[in-house]
Amino acid sequence: MFHSDVYAKRRKRLKQDVGSGLILFLGHGQSPINYLDNPYPFRQDSSFLYFWGLDHPKLAAVIDTEENKEVVFGNNLTSEERVWAGPKTPLKEKCRRIGVKETLSLDQLEGIITKALHKNRKIHFLPQCRAENVLKVMRLLGIDPAAVQDRVSTILTKAVVAQRSVKSEAEIEEIEAALDITYEMQTLPMKMSKPGMFEREAVGAMIDIAYCVGSRLSFPIIFSTRGEIIHNPSHGGLMKTGDMVINDSGAESPLHYATDITRTFPVSEKFTKKQKDIYEIVLHAQEKAIETISPGIEFRKIHLLACQHLVSGLKALNLMKGDIELAIRAGAHALFFPTGLGHMMGLDVHDMENLGEDYVGYTDTIQRNHQFGLNNLRLAKTLETGFVLTVEPGLYFIPELIDQWKVENKFVDYINYQNVEAYKDFGGIRIEDDILVMESGARVLGKPIPKSIEEVEAFSSQ
Ligand code: GLY
Ligand code: MN
Repeated sequence: MFHSDVYAKRRKRLKQDVGSGLILFLGHGQSPINYLDNPYPFRQDSSFLYFWGLDHPKLAAVIDTEENKEVVFGNNLTSEERVWAGPKTPLKEKCRRIGVKETLSLDQLEGIITKALHKNRKIHFLPQCRAENVLKVMRLLGIDPAAVQDRVSTILTKAVVAQRSVKSEAEIEEIEAALDITYEMQTLPMKMSKPGMFEREAVGAMIDIAYCVGSRLSFPIIFSTRGEIIHNPSHGGLMKTGDMVINDSGAESPLHYATDITRTFPVSEKFTKKQKDIYEIVLHAQEKAIETISPGIEFRKIHLLACQHLVSGLKALNLMKGDIELAIRAGAHALFFPTGLGHMMGLDVHDMENLGEDYVGYTDTIQRNHQFGLNNLRLAKTLETGFVLTVEPGLYFIPELIDQWKVENKFVDYINYQNVEAYKDFGGIRIEDDILVMESGARVLGKPIPKSIEEVEAFSSQ
């Protein structure tokens, strides 16, 4: 946990930014897998963690902006519950550590909210990602579940996004602590993966690395020789000579800050010439994008710059043709790069995505472009010092999409379909790092993970 002042200052700023009414926070409960006593591992709501730091289930909290009160709602375990769960620090003591004096039992929340509603006071709440919390909001505020999303407080959502977007030094330390674990989760599979092994064997070893140091995954591991399937959840594949593997994985720090790193490596010791050619293009695009990052620059421009490098490389291989600018403007490059260049990162791997991607990555003036490819850009807005984001260009050869576009004669001025045919079994390559926007320029967080062809091959041959 951070020092109590950290949480108190965050809440004070939030109170000022929101200005009136009550701010309601709902923590997460335990989510059952198949029956109530068999839950998924508990993960607290990230905004609850950010403002209240309390990392256990069945909590709520209220800030009364006008009466200047902060209350945490929760119950201490009964003696019977302690038989199963063991002794726990009393809620009052936990709250002292986050600078909150007042605690009430969970069943008192409804009375406080009802009283405020009777006085026509505004109750601000954030978008909820868990169904049980949607139902809780509905019951507390007396609104229809389908209307909960419409009643979310925009002023609160924007205020939370503004605070959580800019990371403090202590938050960066957390991310770097998780990157130490991620380094091992990336380098061990490079070393251990051999033809004849199943993907799941490497995935098991990566999970071991995280759990053995008390960490856990920041998202389900993507580890696949089918790199063209961008978020492939399957680990059942057999790794064969000549295959490449995409390893997109990350860990959580003790306070639940995320990492998100991707490396692509050969299952055998060396990349083939064809693989090297594509790898160099992706690596160059990533390096150029990172070099360009600085406060005051729109991330959409950096995304488009990366696209230029990707298209220029594909042109050199005769997979694309024509004017680079026009090809990108038309959206032809999205056949090979349908994703965005990156996203914000923090307590969530796609930071604050449940608060609304457009609040996090866009503004009133920088609006999402719905063209295929650009529509998947999660972050477009102007960068600020203290933002942490990923830079993850890739080149993907998706047979179904290639066939579909070819039949449709789509972008024939820019795509050499005849040459692309020979890449339909290529897979995909992605390279991703976690970047801190500095006062000038940017820093790749964590200790360097093998990335150049020489470095990756050196690890793959161990
Ligand atoms: N690491 C998965 C993603 O960025 O979507
Ligand atoms: Mn990512």
